[in-house]
Amino acid sequence: MLILGIETSCDETAAAIIENGERILSNVVASQVELHRKFWGIVPELASRKHLELIIPVIKEALKEGGIELKNLNAIAATYGPGLLGSLLVGLTVAKGIAYTLKIPFVGINHLEAHLYANFLQYPQITPPLVGLIISGGHTELIYLPKEGKYEVLGTTRDDAVGEAFDKVARILNLGYPGGPVIEEIAKKGNPHSIPLPLTRFKEDTLDFSFSGIKTAVLYYVKNLQKRAKSIPTADIAASFQLKVTQMLTQNLFRAAYLKKVKQIILGGGVSSNLFLRSFLEKEKPQGIELFFPSLELCTDNAVMVAACAYPKIKKGKASPLSLDAQPNLNL
Ligand code: KG4
Ligand code: ZN
Repeated sequence: MLILGIETSCDETAAAIIENGERILSNVVASQVELHRKFWGIVPELASRKHLELIIPVIKEALKEGGIELKNLNAIAATYGPGLLGSLLVGLTVAKGIAYTLKIPFVGINHLEAHLYANFLQYPQITPPLVGLIISGGHTELIYLPKEGKYEVLGTTRDDAVGEAFDKVARILNLGYPGGPVIEEIAKKGNPHSIPLPLTRFKEDTLDFSFSGIKTAVLYYVKNLQKRAKSIPTADIAASFQLKVTQMLTQNLFRAAYLKKVKQIILGGGVSSNLFLRSFLEKEKPQGIELFFPSLELCTDNAVMVAACAYPKIKKGKASPLSLDAQPNLNL
């Protein structure tokens, strides 16, 4: 079975084809990073216009790379939320149009579920019950999966998403956009124990997260040095920030695994491509816990994960109606 996946929820225009839910035939991602860089973040209006420009060439490229003709496709999947409304509508509308023309099933996909499916695609040994952590520019979701397709949100951020905190701290440090990869790189040259930054704790017992306190602490630390005309120890700040954020994520993640008595943990989303975070978690994990990370190119937004997520739904006959609307605030 050949499934074309389409992803346009944020600032990547992506299309991919997978065969029988497991073999990746093509994976095309056109990033809009350059377009948004000068604004230090995503400008929704520009993003949707760019998706319109790129979507057909990207789909054509995915077909070419996979050696597939449009008429050979068996199903089409597209992200319908969460994300930017104007951006979601581009991929969703094109997907419905193709499905209608070819008379094949169309499936709307939840972007968060897709991030988790990057793991199910790559590691067949993963079997729920398990705990998942989605960490990206827009989301920080700690999830319990009692069985395949069932999701219970255990914790989420009360303010900034973790990737957003990376982006904002990179901006404070004048490192460029997106912040995650540059912070990871520059942190290699810094001492992670050199700058005192707060580890946010809530009064009540919760698995929620908060990253605005640490971001503000970095801001004041830098402002204070600037006021005194001192140089900014960028690498030390980046390393200390990265360590604290990693510790916050680690604490809640392993606590959730303990509370739910699971043996497997899956991660997904742009921040899960951070190698410091990956090795920290591997070192700190309790005995008997298995950790799974998608390969780097499947952590950040892509359409392979969308097609992978659609496969079990199509097999179960769970196609979506063509009236399915984009849902910017869709939850798991
Ligand atoms: O999953 P993604 O591509 O898009 C969303 O769904 O949001 O995630 C993008 C986010 C950005 O905030 C980016 O700074 C962060 O992931 N990111 C990273 C790394 N690579 C990307 N954060 C930390 N370390 C990285 N290596
Ligand atoms: Zn994402």
